[in-house]
Amino acid sequence: MQASKSELTPAAWAPYLRRPRATDAIGMGRLVADSGVLDPNSSYAYLLLATDFADTSIVAERDGRLCGFITGYHPPTRPEVLFVWQVVVAESAQGTGLGGAMLDALLHRVRTDRHGHPVTVEATVAPSNSASRALFGGFARRHGVPLIEQPRFDAALMDPEGGHEDEPVLRIGPFTEDLNNS
Ligand SMILES: CC(C)(COP(=O)(O)OP(=O)(O)OC[C@H]1O[C@@H](n2cnc3c(N)ncnc32)[C@H](O)[C@@H]1OP(=O)(O)O)[C@@H](O)C(=O)NCCC(=O)NCCS
Repeated sequence: MQASKSELTPAAWAPYLRRPRATDAIGMGRLVADSGVLDPNSSYAYLLLATDFADTSIVAERDGRLCGFITGYHPPTRPEVLFVWQVVVAESAQGTGLGGAMLDALLHRVRTDRHGHPVTVEATVAPSNSASRALFGGFARRHGVPLIEQPRFDAALMDPEGGHEDEPVLRIGPFTEDLNNS
């Protein structure tokens, strides 16, 4: 039987989470476009993320539909960092813990792939994005790790006409907990 939205808890999302694949690229672009908040990228960019960066990205698919995804990568000179590029959850699935479940599952996978070595998660978040700030704040609290905020990209670097907010970076971690307990 399929779960309704009200039955979905963070733990209940586990069976629906997996690495992205090439056939997800179009759906990923649609989720971002529908969010009305995130900057859309080309299908080609999502293709690269869903294939070359599949090990550091995650999607949620339920009933044949993409419900959310996270794209991420290890910055080339800082492999201990998991940089989270975009996080999005379909409006119909928001508030069910999917964002947090994807972050937890991706962190666990990346730490397993890195043989349990510490990982620090980074993401830039606009000051006005309260849902995203709540997501990352809850993530840090759940794992008992520090969250610090530092300047990263000034608004003018993204849009000289003033159409973009600053993108300070949130640094969360390091995550060092025993993988068997996470
Ligand atoms: C941000 C986003 C991914 C969160 O996904 P979600 O699945 O709804 O989040 P969760 O249900 O896992 O909730 C995570 C935390 O955020 C809080 N939260 C969720 N939506 C919220 C909102 N609109 N306003 C304030 N807090 C919110 C939850 O209460 C929860 O807090 P807790 O951990 O203290 O209990 C989702 O709102 C989204 O896709 N927004 C549009 C795209 C976006 O802004 N992406 C992030 C850009 S960096």
